[in-house]
Amino acid sequence: MSSTPRPPIAEKLLDNQSNAVLLLDRELGLLTMNPSAENLLSTSLSKARKSGMGELFAENPRLAASMSASLETGHPCTLRELTLDVPGHRRVTVDCTITPLQDPVLGYTVLVEMMDVDRHLRIAREEQLLSLHQTTRHLIRGLAHEVKNPLGGLRGAAQLLDRELTDDGLREYTRIILHETDRLRALVDRMLGPNTLPRRQRINIHEPLEYVRQLVSVEFPGGHVRIEADYDPSIPEILADPDQLIQALLNIVRNAVQALRDTPDARIVLRTRIQRQFTLGNVRHKLVARIDIIDNGPGIPPAIQEHVFFPMVSGRPDGTGLGLSIAQTLIAQHGGLIEFTSQPGRTVFTLLLPVESDDEPNQSHLGD
Ligand SMILES: Nc1ncnc2c1ncn2[C@@H]1O[C@H](COP(=O)(O)OP(=O)(O)OP(=O)(O)O)[C@@H](O)[C@H]1O
Ligand SMILES: [Mg+2]
Repeated sequence: MSSTPRPPIAEKLLDNQSNAVLLLDRELGLLTMNPSAENLLSTSLSKARKSGMGELFAENPRLAASMSASLETGHPCTLRELTLDVPGHRRVTVDCTITPLQDPVLGYTVLVEMMDVDRHLRIAREEQLLSLHQTTRHLIRGLAHEVKNPLGGLRGAAQLLDRELTDDGLREYTRIILHETDRLRALVDRMLGPNTLPRRQRINIHEPLEYVRQLVSVEFPGGHVRIEADYDPSIPEILADPDQLIQALLNIVRNAVQALRDTPDARIVLRTRIQRQFTLGNVRHKLVARIDIIDNGPGIPPAIQEHVFFPMVSGRPDGTGLGLSIAQTLIAQHGGLIEFTSQPGRTVFTLLLPVESDDEPNQSHLGD
């Protein structure tokens, strides 16, 4: 059965709703759904119409039963904090309202609205992450300034002393001072992170991803780690600095390879997807490109999980703990965000980058 065409204004309202909206017939066949529903259920309207909603209802019998009951009694109902198992082995928590409707053309239908509760928790968490990141950067900038000035003085004095000394044994000491001041200066510069603004151009995100895939395969030869690509070729081009994107991706993929050192059948998957109506920080975007870097290694040690994006936090004896902090700064400069989930056997780093469109502004400030 096909749905009646919607007037353009209703279409626009539905398409821009952050809540998922579905309309089903009395046999619980899908009539239509909005982009937020496609996003939440990880499917497209055409796919869901073809394959039906059977799988979703089989996984979530409470939802199907509540819809049938609502249709039968004619009463709406609300299911709070309903855990939904959605395709792709994802679990989301939603507040769900079911409203039976009677339509002269469509007959009995049922309107389902779902508000992604996880999403609201995620938005709060991400806002906190971004603000913490900004505070840390501020702190480092102040500290770097205080450290670099006396370092310059130290270096100059050591150089003068070096020129005056004739005893090679004593000059060994001035060399140590010079070497160590240079090392400290380099460390402070790395902690400061990128000091250039992104030079943005329209790029296909799969180009830097493929570059990183090849580079890492060369860096770590031997085929111990399989790096697979699972790309969505329909993702539109984004405005980004390709070099900065490569740097951020490299830092994350290198971490994954290092973590997989002792993992048998080690595997990294680079996955890309599009997210619709997605909020980053406090800005809502129509389209967001999502890059997942998934590995089957031991996971991030729980003791440092809370702090991995802070500089100097490392779980490796030879790590400086700067890779993730730099990657987060680079992606934040693009209006994006990096987040992760990690448990033994599955760590996922997710880069979220807004897709700006030429003809209409992509973002709106969060009102929900
Ligand atoms: N995919 C991953 N699996 C397991 N642990 C990880 C993963 N990614 C990061 N980590 C942990 O997070 C820590 C911080 O990573 P980060 O890249 O910031 O620093 P680093 O790798 O220690 O040093 P650097 O990148 O500066 O050389 C790592 O030391 C590691 O313990
Ligand atoms: Mg690293």
